Amino acid sequence: MDVFEAVKERRSIRKYRDAEVEEEKLQKILESARLAPSAANRQQWKFLVVKSQKTREKLVEPAHGQQMVAQAPVLVVACSTESEHVMPCGQPAYTVDLSIAVSFMILEAQELGLGTCWLGAFSEDAFKEILEIPDDIRIVAAFTLGYADEDPDPRPRKPLDEVISYEKYE
Ligand SMILES: Cc1cc2nc3c(=O)[nH]c(=O)nc-3n(C[C@H](O)[C@H](O)[C@H](O)COP(=O)(O)O)c2cc1C
Repeated sequence: MDVFEAVKERRSIRKYRDAEVEEEKLQKILESARLAPSAANRQQWKFLVVKSQKTREKLVEPAHGQQMVAQAPVLVVACSTESEHVMPCGQPAYTVDLSIAVSFMILEAQELGLGTCWLGAFSEDAFKEILEIPDDIRIVAAFTLGYADEDPDPRPRKPLDEVISYEKYE
């Protein structure tokens, strides 16, 4: 599978089969985060892999009741270990860095035949308490990981000419 195919075929998966993710595949997905670019190569991140069924069940409620958190065999929680750095462009580096790393992992998961769903709907404070994440660490995102038990159609996207302009902003 080439990168474009992974981009094109990926869907948010919200139903998972009762099947474990092979350790070799998980390691390759995590390696994709390690190799991701970051602002000034600072790599201020830590990825928490949650496999425990009991812990994932506890996370459902603070994840706005999203049952896939308990159903998927793995939840990856993407944490920033430093969140003060602002790039010259005015954007905080940590949200950008972590989002790139998560995107890389999600695409690698797609290549390996695994489904994912990015989670933005969760209580950071409650996740931090359950996962014993220190106060100064920020959670940027989390995603479920496992074998899909659904095959959703592509979700709609705006046409290219609506979202691209050339040479100047139009
Ligand atoms: C930043 C971000 C946060 C998201 N949060 C959630 C979430 O909490 N729960 C969920 O079911 N999907 C979540 N999604 C998935 C989006 O709803 C999904 O990507 C979008 O509807 C397009 O569908 P597709 O991913 O299948 O192409 C999130 C996606 C992104 C990028």
